[in-house]
Amino acid sequence: MIPLRLSEIARITGGQIHDATGGSGADPLVDGPVVTDSREASAGSLYVARIGEAMDGHQFVAGARDLGAVAALTSYPVADLPCVVVADVQAAFVSLASALIERNAHVLVIAVTGSSGKTSTKDLLLSVLQRHGETVANVGSLNSEVGVPLTVCRITSTTAYLVLEMGARAIGHLDYLTRMAPPQIGVVLNVGTAHVGEFGSQEAIGVAKAELVQALPATGFAVLNADDPIVSAMANQTRAHVISVGESDLAAVRAVDVSLDPQGRASFSLVTDQGSAPVALGLYGEHHVGNALAVAAVALVVGMTLQDVATALGEARPLSRWRMEVHERADGVTIINDAYNANPDSMLAALKTLAIMGKGRRTWAVLGEMRELGSGSITEHEALGRLAVRLNVSRVVAVGERTQPILSGAHKGSGDEGAIWVADIDAAYDLLRRELAPGDVVLVKSSRDAGLRWLGDRLVDDTGPEVSS
Ligand SMILES: Nc1ncnc2c1ncn2[C@@H]1O[C@H](COP(=O)(O)OP(=O)(O)OP(=O)(O)O)[C@@H](O)[C@H]1O
Ligand SMILES: [Mg+2]
Repeated sequence: MIPLRLSEIARITGGQIHDATGGSGADPLVDGPVVTDSREASAGSLYVARIGEAMDGHQFVAGARDLGAVAALTSYPVADLPCVVVADVQAAFVSLASALIERNAHVLVIAVTGSSGKTSTKDLLLSVLQRHGETVANVGSLNSEVGVPLTVCRITSTTAYLVLEMGARAIGHLDYLTRMAPPQIGVVLNVGTAHVGEFGSQEAIGVAKAELVQALPATGFAVLNADDPIVSAMANQTRAHVISVGESDLAAVRAVDVSLDPQGRASFSLVTDQGSAPVALGLYGEHHVGNALAVAAVALVVGMTLQDVATALGEARPLSRWRMEVHERADGVTIINDAYNANPDSMLAALKTLAIMGKGRRTWAVLGEMRELGSGSITEHEALGRLAVRLNVSRVVAVGERTQPILSGAHKGSGDEGAIWVADIDAAYDLLRRELAPGDVVLVKSSRDAGLRWLGDRLVDDTGPEVSS
């Protein structure tokens, strides 16, 4: 946080200061983290009291104070901390973030959106850019109207790059986020079918994602995936310079001669108008090639050399949990926990990687529900079952109530006896505990709310079936 007096925060947000703490009218200096979760407060924090669906954040002001918070942003006066009272806490939070961006022109804002791979790409950007300048990026997947201002508030006087993952669940969301933190560089990874249930169609998702490139200034850069027709068409909707990335010959920053090692890690030649350099990624799955190209385009724009970019890409390792996490168990079972979330595109990416890693081994796809697919849900789950069989996955385990179509898809795909449906995570765990054998490779994947990441964690911790004495 760039230190601000409470009076300054009141000016920025148009709020009124209330201090019922018996303080002598001092104007506290906020120089610690800005938090919306009182449990994350520390010395010098500003606690932003939001009113959520279930909880009123104002209840936790004292908790924030006990951890060191010096002030709160609230929608009514509170007793436990000096506060700035505003009509609308969310709007005030946005004003604070916008003011920080406006006042700190030394920070280059880079926004990343897309249906799949935002967090993976944001993490890769952080790994690469921080070799070149101090970089702040959102924690985990904090990509919404709360996560973006929280991240903006973390910039300091020495921050060079601010990497913001921006999520869009509806038309207007990216417009809102980019007004708050106008990016100079915008990356659009892909337009898939994630959240199609909320949007209605893939075209509508394209319209929503295009708001990012529309927000870019003429001096800015739009990094667009040349391999995705909906994304590459966004070139017409921006004033910024367009840098196309992909495996297509037309891409300005492209991957040539992509190959995968037996672990599913990609190598390729990174080709640009500045020459080419070999890249060997340490991340699992071919889908990281596209993410890495987007990162390379950004890193080259900010002035990194091609060689430095190639080296940094190769040395990057996963930063966020449950995304293609590969664990080798002592008993020779490999667990791939990719259950942070799931949609048809990321299922395809993960299953392809399973097929490569599992060559000559028995493979298991333990698949939970893909949420938010709307009316296409049954068809997509069926297609997933067929896909798993087509990719020669040895055993398909569909987990949970709405995953029956995975089983019927797998059966339609082959009449395969290797597919099974179980009611819940405990049943899946019991089955796997009984049946996993040394050499097996297990992919665990579902939408976040289906919770299979916990099954993946349990399987990693497991040492195999108990040996009875
Ligand atoms: N370019 C890509 N294409 C398809 N799948 C991808 C791509 N990059 C990552 N994935 C896979 O998609 C899943 C989600 O990855 P990630 O968390 O990076 O996406 P996200 O866009 O941040 O998702 P969310 O909308 O939940 O924030 C993971 O399983 C990951 O392996
Ligand atoms: Mg994310």
